[in-house]
Amino acid sequence: SAGGDPAITEIQDWNRYLGEGVVTRPYGTPSPFEAHVVRRDVSWLTADATSSVSFTPLHELEGIITPNGLCFERHHAGVAEVPPDEHRLMINGLVDRPLVFTMEDIKRFPRENRVYFLECAANSGMEWRGAQLNGCQFTHGMVHCVMYTGTPLRYLLEEAGVKTAGKWLLAEGADAAAMTRSIPMEKALDDCLVAWKMNGEALRPEQGYPVRLVVPGWEGNMWVKWLRRLEVGDQPWEQREETSKYTDLLANGTARKFTWGMEVKSVITNPSPQAPITHGRGRTVLSGLAWSGNGRIKRVDVSLDGGRNWHAARIDGPSLPMALHRFYYDFDWDGSELLLQSRAMDEEGFVQPTKSALRTVRGENSIYHNNGIQTWHLNAEGGLENVEVS
Ligand code: MTE
Ligand code: CO
Repeated sequence: SAGGDPAITEIQDWNRYLGEGVVTRPYGTPSPFEAHVVRRDVSWLTADATSSVSFTPLHELEGIITPNGLCFERHHAGVAEVPPDEHRLMINGLVDRPLVFTMEDIKRFPRENRVYFLECAANSGMEWRGAQLNGCQFTHGMVHCVMYTGTPLRYLLEEAGVKTAGKWLLAEGADAAAMTRSIPMEKALDDCLVAWKMNGEALRPEQGYPVRLVVPGWEGNMWVKWLRRLEVGDQPWEQREETSKYTDLLANGTARKFTWGMEVKSVITNPSPQAPITHGRGRTVLSGLAWSGNGRIKRVDVSLDGGRNWHAARIDGPSLPMALHRFYYDFDWDGSELLLQSRAMDEEGFVQPTKSALRTVRGENSIYHNNGIQTWHLNAEGGLENVEVS
């Protein structure tokens, strides 16, 4: 078969012999050929793995839903392993009736299914002072988007009866970090969920099994996992996670606090440093993600020349409020060097800023809430690098 492609001319083993039977993998796992598609950490970032973060491999995914096993994880004291039968959720403080719910109790309240992104406020935090990490998994991978099933937090609070003075809610986790955050009552009664399923199956232990708080559009730190207590109060508690952490130090030495909303943001996921162009010049699919805590994404523009000229990208798939949006820009690559950027606009009219515009307002001391425009430099060989343009 001189010159013949063996993929065509030869009968392969998988074409000749029977495959494995059903239930070989009772809970399915991905193809072994996809073994490189995993969460990854950055070893120098944290002192140990229990108070650390792993990143979603955004460059390997499509559509808007993150598979459960690939959702980034952020733990302040490791993954709590909580037996659901022994788990309790307590509501106390300024309520008519302090209550304790079992998981079974929670599941008797009316359910809702909602798709939301969760972004850690520290996502892209390492990029504040300049281009740092090579790959969208590391620059933007502290975000995931799944469908939650849960009961509106409002129903549980109504059951307990919030007193008129009850203007704030403290959410507390059952893990060794006992993560605690103050949430204004208005948000708690609006769209927060107490969720026990993600993408149809039970929450993964990493995501707070058996139950977590969902705080749509707001910073990930408030989405308390292994949720065990809700205290109603008349003022915020000023916990560590809302004073020394998750505040934004400005150039004048003062800090912004209670910066809850995640602002409009986008990133090109393909091509990107971990996903170079290997097919040479010609037909090229550029793919990316956009999201905003203010609602839906209305528009995404793509630039091939570092922000001088912009082209409208095509948003494909569901456009849901406070969920990831998938965009594409299909173009003919002529093999020249390019500076790839994406810029999202949300339905409130907010436009993603350049990094220099962001630094003009926020200074250089921040970690959290970096929604600046990302630039990838594409070289003539198809390789990419994280760069900044001024
Ligand atoms: N809840 C508890 N109980 N403990 C934690 O360490 N980390 C918070 C939040 N909720 C945390 C927690 C932070 S900082 C983020 S960004 C999100 O959970 C991460 O959620 P994920 O691990 O499901 O991605
Ligand atoms: Co976080």
